[in-house]
Amino acid sequence: MLVCLLVALCLGSACVTGTQTGNGGAKKKKGPNEPVVIGFSMDTLKEERWQKDKELVEKRAKEVGATVNIQVANGDDSLQIKQAENLLTQGVDVLIVAPHNGEVAASIVEAAHRQGVPVISYDRLIKNADVDLYVSHQVVKMGEMQAKYLLDHVGKKPANFVIVGGSPTDNNALLLHKGQMNILQPAVARGDVKIVTDQYAKEWQASAALNIVENALTQANNQVDAVVASNDGTARGAIQALEGQNLAGKVLVSGQDADLASLTLIVLGKQTMTVYKSIQPLANAAVDAAIKFAHGEKVDTVDTIDNGRKAVPSILLEPVAVDRNNLVNTVVKDGYHTLAEICATVPPDKCPKP
Ligand code: BGC
Repeated sequence: MLVCLLVALCLGSACVTGTQTGNGGAKKKKGPNEPVVIGFSMDTLKEERWQKDKELVEKRAKEVGATVNIQVANGDDSLQIKQAENLLTQGVDVLIVAPHNGEVAASIVEAAHRQGVPVISYDRLIKNADVDLYVSHQVVKMGEMQAKYLLDHVGKKPANFVIVGGSPTDNNALLLHKGQMNILQPAVARGDVKIVTDQYAKEWQASAALNIVENALTQANNQVDAVVASNDGTARGAIQALEGQNLAGKVLVSGQDADLASLTLIVLGKQTMTVYKSIQPLANAAVDAAIKFAHGEKVDTVDTIDNGRKAVPSILLEPVAVDRNNLVNTVVKDGYHTLAEICATVPPDKCPKP
C-alpha cells in the first residue's frame, strides 16, 4: 500500500521532470482567474525597436491582466543569465527571452525547465536547447528582400556589392545572410554582381559597419554600387562612410527595423529601403502564448525552425519591404511613426504626400 502511494506521488510530481514542454512541466499551472507573472529577459534597448518591444509587451500584458517583470542585460551574456535566474527565483510562470548570444542562452532554458517554467524565444532563436516556442518574423525572407530590392534597382551590370552582416552571435544575422546569399549567389554566378567584401559587424555596431564600408570603398576605388546593410543601425554607419566620399544617395543601401532616423534618410534619398517588422503582433503573440503556457494550454503553430536540438514550434510573422513610395501606406498607416516625425528635418517639398 505504502509502495503504491509513493509511486503515485512520484508520477504526480517529482518524476515528471525530463523533457519539459510548454504545456507540461513540474510547475503548478495557473487556474483561469489566477494572475500570470511573465519574466521578459531582454538583451538590449539600444535599437529603437527594442524600446517598442518593451513598451508593447507591457501594454499587452496589462490588457490581458498579467504582470511582466523585465530585465535588460545591455549586451552582457553573464548578466543576462543572472537576470534570468533572478526572474526564476521570483517565481515567474513563463520566461520570454530575447537572447544576446543564441548559444549561451541555452543555459537559461535549462535553468527554467529545471523549475518547470516554459521558455519563449523572442525575435532571436536560442540554439541547441529545448525551447518551447519561437516568435519572430521571417528572417531569411527579410535577407532576400534586402538583396532583391538592391539587385532590382541597381541598374548596372556587373554591380559591385558590399555585404554588412549583423552580430555573428545573433542567429538572426546568420539567417539574414542566408537570405541575402539566396539572391546574390546566383547573380554572382550570372556575372551580374561582384562582391567587394562580405563581413559581419560586431554587436550590430554602426561604427563597425562604418569601418567595413570605408575599407571597401578604399579597396574598390569608390566603385561600390550597393551596400546590403542588415539593419538600420548598420545602414546609418554605412551611409556615414559613403558621406565621407560624397557618395551618399548614389549608392543603394538596405536596412531593417523602420527606425525613425532611417525613414528620414529614405525620404532624403540616402538610404534606399528598410524592412519593416510590426512589433505589436510580435509582442501580442509572445504574451498570449505565455498566458496559455501558464494555464497549461497548448499554443497552435504551423511553422517550425531547427535550432540544432529540435524542430522548435514557431510563429513567424510577415515582414514588409519599405521604400519612399510605400512608406505612407505601411509604417505611417500602421501608426509606427507619423509622417510629421519622419519629415521633421526634411524640406517640405521632399516629404511624401500623406
Ligand atoms: C533584430 C533586429 C535588430 C538587431 C540589433 C536583430 O536580432 O531582429 O531587429 O536591429 O537584432 O539589435
